[in-house]
Amino acid sequence: MDEKTVIIYASPKADSFTAKLLKEKFGDCKGAYFYNCFKALPHPCFDCGFCKTKEGCAFSDLDKFYEKFEKANRVIFAFPIYNCGLPAPLKALVDRFQRFYNARFVLNKRPPVKGEREVFVLMTCGSEQDQAESVLKQLTPMFTISGCHLKEYYLIKGTDNI
Ligand SMILES: Cc1cc2nc3c(=O)[nH]c(=O)nc-3n(C[C@H](O)[C@H](O)[C@H](O)COP(=O)(O)O)c2cc1C
Repeated sequence: MDEKTVIIYASPKADSFTAKLLKEKFGDCKGAYFYNCFKALPHPCFDCGFCKTKEGCAFSDLDKFYEKFEKANRVIFAFPIYNCGLPAPLKALVDRFQRFYNARFVLNKRPPVKGEREVFVLMTCGSEQDQAESVLKQLTPMFTISGCHLKEYYLIKGTDNI
């Protein structure tokens, strides 16, 4: 794996089902930029309007993440499903892509994020229900605004019974 791969990991546990799935599909992920949502706890978007007036974000905690993301050509999401959706720190991260939405539609920047990215989404959930499609929908606006194209997704269901 090279530095043009960004891994967005969002289980609070290191030895998680999500980590096992990530390892099974992509190996040890050495060399990639690894963003751990539960360790970094990204600031939520406050809809303060800063990004409607100039490119960027009022909060600086994601500066390095944005830089790595813009250089990436591959993004891997790995997370457990929480309450039929994204775990809270991952939802906060996704909301922080609003700066690019405003860059495109208020500041008229085309494209708001340079480059294209292939995306892999790895999910786990406790129940036997297949919630993948509805969870993926929550990522769609962010994909659209940031040159992300879903290549494959994987869901491990029923981890409550393992
Ligand atoms: C706060 C919370 C909410 C959850 N919500 C769901 C849910 O809506 N549907 C589901 O099938 N499992 C749900 N689960 C179970 C997790 O998705 C499941 O245990 C998952 O495999 C944990 O992954 P991890 O070991 O990678 O952290 C929830 C677990 C937690 C802690």
